[in-house]
Amino acid sequence: MNPDQKKTVLRMIPYGIYVLTADDGNGNISAATVNWVTQTAFAPPLLVVGVKTDSGAYQTVKAAHSFALNMLGKDQKSLAFTFFRPADVSDGKLSGQSFRKGTTGAPILIDVPGAMECRVISIVEQGDHHIVVGEAIDAHLNKPLTGRPDSAILEMKDLGETVFYGG
Ligand SMILES: Cc1cc2nc3c(=O)[nH]c(=O)nc-3n(C[C@H](O)[C@H](O)[C@H](O)COP(=O)(O)O)c2cc1C
Repeated sequence: MNPDQKKTVLRMIPYGIYVLTADDGNGNISAATVNWVTQTAFAPPLLVVGVKTDSGAYQTVKAAHSFALNMLGKDQKSLAFTFFRPADVSDGKLSGQSFRKGTTGAPILIDVPGAMECRVISIVEQGDHHIVVGEAIDAHLNKPLTGRPDSAILEMKDLGETVFYGG
């Protein structure tokens, strides 16, 4: 396989941008910007996320057996960059962002258009990112939407000419 062609072909896959959050109930709260996300079943509603195994987010999701995917809005590029770095909780805020606890305890960011909470039902342990399979158990629509829901979300291509995760 030609490595440049491999990279270019893999970078043709379009991605939304999400903040993955989890709270293990033992003082560990994590948040990380992710893009390797998709729905994989209607019944039950399943989602998968590719999560870096050496990240704090992976440890917390595993311990919590649950997570939330916070959907970033089109105009929330700066939030994406905030959560590329490990998150911290201070003054009741998550890396400076207001949040509330969801049904699973996972932080739901107040300023995002919506969030989906999932219970972890399986983890596929292959490669440097493991596939976390979650069943959607609670949906939060923080703001009313007009138009297609997938037009509301920040996408990888909105982050700039040189930003990719994949390849
Ligand atoms: C553009 C971009 C996309 C990313 N997508 C993912 C992803 O899909 N899965 C993942 O585990 N990490 C992804 N990351 C890395 C995480 O954002 C980063 O490891 C995390 O925020 C670090 O915090 P943590 O170690 O506390 O989890 C991405 C980073 C960038 C720059």
